[in-house]
Amino acid sequence: MEEQNTNVAAAALKALADLQSEIEETVLDNSQALDDYRIRFLSRKQGQITALLKRIPEVAPEDRKGFGQQINAAKSRVESRIEEADELLSGASGSGSAPSDLTLPGRSFPQGSLHPITQAQRLITRVFENYGFEVAEGPEIEDDWHNFSALNFPPDHPARDMQDTFFIEESDEEDGGILLRTHTSPVQIRVMEEKEPPIRVIVPGRVYRNEAISYKSYCLFHQVEGLYVDEGVTMADLKQILHAFAKTLFGEDVKMRFRPSFFPFTEPSAEVDIWWKDENLPGGGRWMEILGCGMVDPNVLEGVGIDSERYTGYAFGMGVERIAMLRYGIDDIRILYENDVRFLEQFS
Ligand code: PHE
Repeated sequence: MEEQNTNVAAAALKALADLQSEIEETVLDNSQALDDYRIRFLSRKQGQITALLKRIPEVAPEDRKGFGQQINAAKSRVESRIEEADELLSGASGSGSAPSDLTLPGRSFPQGSLHPITQAQRLITRVFENYGFEVAEGPEIEDDWHNFSALNFPPDHPARDMQDTFFIEESDEEDGGILLRTHTSPVQIRVMEEKEPPIRVIVPGRVYRNEAISYKSYCLFHQVEGLYVDEGVTMADLKQILHAFAKTLFGEDVKMRFRPSFFPFTEPSAEVDIWWKDENLPGGGRWMEILGCGMVDPNVLEGVGIDSERYTGYAFGMGVERIAMLRYGIDDIRILYENDVRFLEQFS
């Protein structure tokens, strides 16, 4: 009987020791752990402190007081650990003191990003800069001469029509009107007026057209224009550089084709399509036009005083939105102009 009592008492003392070390060793690094900890030790009904208090009778009468005191000390220890962890986890918020853990990483600020059009425009421009093209720019408010006449558009060409062009000032005089440029090609004229060949420029910029707004056209958009004028420039040079460009943007195995076309300021002229793979389409894809190009028409060279017997040149122009939409899988141009943060965030 005596011995049995001793064993029972020893078991209670062992339970106290276990409790004490558990109280110390439990890791309290998140609020869930903290809640669990509180319930496990302090719950009135099922908590381990209560459970141990109930075992006081197991202990020899002369040891009961000390046993009880130790349980109380353990309880205080639980409470102070909870308080400490609580403070740490909630940072210094509200208390006005420094955060308890200065090594915690700071809160990050919301960060903006470049618009997908800007990203695509810079990417395109950079490809040509790597081939030695220089960036040039021109005004968005342009005169009739640079936007049309100097580019060999005849006086009654449909592109001059109010339907397509936003006029700022109409004029009865030939070349007298002021307008929002409808393409970046007038910058070709501005550069050639200023410089002697060799000329090699890349021209990113915004253009405007009075078109019905739909999923594929908007009243303003962006183009990148290229111009190279020198002795002995040929159509082969044009094809070669555009092929290199398409490979950089759309991958080594890109399929592209040149299709004969017409622009007043180039002769011959072509449009370039790339093969866009899409398993949902019959034939596994389709041809998508990405740019217009051609050899600079001798009339245009002569108009800016460049000897067309000595010099030849090529020019090309592409829509930035079109290329951004292909690259990023966007199927409605309007979303590029809505400035919806949920859309734009995807490009950071
Ligand atoms: N400016 C033409 C357009 O807007 C594109 C182009 C540029 C075509 C240069 C040929 C050469 O459609």
